[in-house]
Amino acid sequence: PKLTVVTRNGEERTVTGDASLSVMEVIRDNGFDELLAICGGCCSCATCHVHVDPEFAAKLPPISEDENDLLDSALTRDAYSRLSCQIPFGDALDGLRVRIAEED
Ligand code: FES
Repeated sequence: PKLTVVTRNGEERTVTGDASLSVMEVIRDNGFDELLAICGGCCSCATCHVHVDPEFAAKLPPISEDENDLLDSALTRDAYSRLSCQIPFGDALDGLRVRIAEED
């Protein structure tokens, strides 16, 4: 499936990701270094914060309590904020577009 990533300076690139990965892993594997993902995907750092395309928001798994608490610590949180490590990629999300959130 394809994933379009918008970086902090507005550059946009579409990459192909493996359906067995998380959205965070797809972003990292394609060299977007500004997504720090410091904790490596165990939902404890919030440095994998992205804003998802509103069109896809309903297709994503619900936000867990841990994810919600971490997102609350992000100053730039909005209605479409997610931690990308908590989104399993897959065919249902083909064409997903995410914007890497500003650094807090
Ligand atoms: Fe740390 Fe997602 S990588 S919360």
